[in-house]
Amino acid sequence: MTRVALLGAGVACVLAWGAGGAESSVELEPMEPNLRDLPSLQRGMTLYVNYCLGCHSLKFQRYERTADDLGIPHDVALANLVFPGRARAEGRDGPAIGDLMHTAMPPERAQQWFGKPPPDLTMVDRVRGTAWVYNMLKNFYVDPKRDFGFNNRVYENIGMPHVLVGLQGVPRLKETGLKAVDILDGKDGLLRKRDGGEFVTSVTASDEVGGEDPVIRGKRYVLEVDPGTAAMSPEEFDQAAYDIANFLHYVGDPGRLDRQRLGLWVLGFLVGLFVLATLLNREYWKDVH
Ligand code: HEC
Repeated sequence: MTRVALLGAGVACVLAWGAGGAESSVELEPMEPNLRDLPSLQRGMTLYVNYCLGCHSLKFQRYERTADDLGIPHDVALANLVFPGRARAEGRDGPAIGDLMHTAMPPERAQQWFGKPPPDLTMVDRVRGTAWVYNMLKNFYVDPKRDFGFNNRVYENIGMPHVLVGLQGVPRLKETGLKAVDILDGKDGLLRKRDGGEFVTSVTASDEVGGEDPVIRGKRYVLEVDPGTAAMSPEEFDQAAYDIANFLHYVGDPGRLDRQRLGLWVLGFLVGLFVLATLLNREYWKDVH
């Protein structure tokens, strides 16, 4: 194989990897993280260690730094957030608060159970974006064809169970009608490319749908939670998903808040310097006139 072909294959692999397994069939709901909202980050960490850390490590993050940044006293963190049964590096003892946030799940077993081991999530916010994580947590739905009984509208065929089902309740897709189609963008089957390369501008009813509609339309769905299955109200669950995504946003770059704070000091310093320089300038020119 030539070098060019190898390079081409490499690029194709990267593209395929980027697209793989994360097809989204819904528009992402906007979500703005807020690192000043310490209660949200504290709740996010609590939810994370209870519902996620069993499978997903945060192996570049320490309990101690996290507790300090989020304003959690060490004894409270040790008693409530650092579980005694967690995995620790061999021969390591001493203050457990300094540990990295490893998962106790052995990777080989996880491979067996889930088809692929749950990835470390330290960087997931930087790779996927905060809104993606938020929406992913909110878009599980019942799908009997999947091994764990749930699929996901943001990450089609995800290999992860719907771990927050007890909080959210059992979400089902409910059809609410047909999606409007934009005739110009050619999506939803209006503009089709035939095998020979020829474009056809409309697909007739007999081609695709059961004869009643000359245009193929997508369907619209909403998620509806089975009554009586949720521990949280829809608003509380949205907040929980927000808090987890917000926490993972913090974890993706723990220094961000410090940098913002430092930036303000630097700007303040420059403003002070500008005032002094202006006064000094005036003082010098006084003598010249
Ligand atoms: C029972 C184990 C398990 C638990 C608990 C779990 N996950 Fe997962 N998670 C997985 C597996 C397995 C995958 C890989 C799925 C795949 O790629 O198909 C995954 C994938 C993900 C991904 C996608 C990563 C990526 O970029 O591909 C995110 C984000 C995620 N999990 C977040 C969470 C959060 C947040 C929680 C806690 C609320 C959580 N998970 C709890 C097993 C788990």
